[in-house]
Amino acid sequence: MDQITQVGLIGFGTMGTGIAVVLAASGRSVVVVDTDQERLDRGRAAVESLCDGALRDSSAAEREAVLSRIVATIDLAQVASADLVIEAVTEDFDIKKNVLSSVAGVIGSNVPIASATSAQSITDLAAGLPNPGRIAGLHFFNPAPRHPVVEVIRGLETHEDVVDSLVTFVSTLDKTEAIVVNDSPGFLVTSMLFPYLNDVIQALDDELASAEDLDLALKLGLGYKVGPLEMLDAAGLDVHLQGTSALYAATGDTRYAPPPLLRRMVAAGHLGAKTGHGFRINEPRKDNA
Ligand SMILES: NC(=O)c1ccc[n+]([C@@H]2O[C@H](COP(=O)([O-])OP(=O)(O)OC[C@H]3O[C@@H](n4cnc5c(N)ncnc54)[C@H](O)[C@@H]3O)[C@@H](O)[C@H]2O)c1
Repeated sequence: MDQITQVGLIGFGTMGTGIAVVLAASGRSVVVVDTDQERLDRGRAAVESLCDGALRDSSAAEREAVLSRIVATIDLAQVASADLVIEAVTEDFDIKKNVLSSVAGVIGSNVPIASATSAQSITDLAAGLPNPGRIAGLHFFNPAPRHPVVEVIRGLETHEDVVDSLVTFVSTLDKTEAIVVNDSPGFLVTSMLFPYLNDVIQALDDELASAEDLDLALKLGLGYKVGPLEMLDAAGLDVHLQGTSALYAATGDTRYAPPPLLRRMVAAGHLGAKTGHGFRINEPRKDNA
């Protein structure tokens, strides 16, 4: 793991696309795997738009070079020669466990595997896999090209040299800082963020103020760059529901209990930016057009 030049990335959704851009911009070749061609096409379009923002000061040739380093496929075997594999699939324990097991079946037994999970235990994900000591967490933030910090999560079994190599790896990404955090529900940032987001959703349901005013007050009053409801729309309400439910199940701490309004929004298919309907986004419905 001295030199990580090729990275396998599993999952080409919100996080996978951002992580792919950050890795390719650092000169790495990235093979991204998702489940079907439609998702690969959507991922490619998202990558192009992220590149437009992240590489706006670069030449067209540099932008093309970054894009050319990202290859998307539905064939998991294409990550076989990767120096590192990052799993960024749906926030569901069983799906992740299956993906990690399949990845372990196609790569070398000492190749490190990192999960981008926000809410699952790295120790639980690693349990039962061959060589669990090479499994760690790499918790990027959304969108990855705009957040130059990554939590490196040390599971109970993670080897210290794997943690050290991942810290070195993160430090080679554009101006990005690595913070080492022990495996604990929600790690560092998420464990503090989710109770705040849940409180704001409940305040909206209680009609304390409008969604717009809640965001405005918290942004300007606290000096945050993004309002909490805008943040939820960008992250995906379904992703937050899965994450906060997992933390609630892991801790029994009611600060993580999913607020009823969040459940209702997800049940109605209002998932934020990805569906055009969320707390702050309300695109006209196609069926009413
Ligand atoms: N969205 C956020 O703000 C955010 C922030 C930090 C971390 N995360 C974490 O990143 C991970 C991914 O989240 P996301 O928001 O990108 O989710 P997403 O739903 O946008 O994307 C997940 C992708 O995984 C793919 N996938 C599912 N099963 C697969 C399989 N077997 N093989 C290959 N691909 C498969 C899906 O098709 C989808 O494209 C989660 O663990 C989440 O907790 C998300």
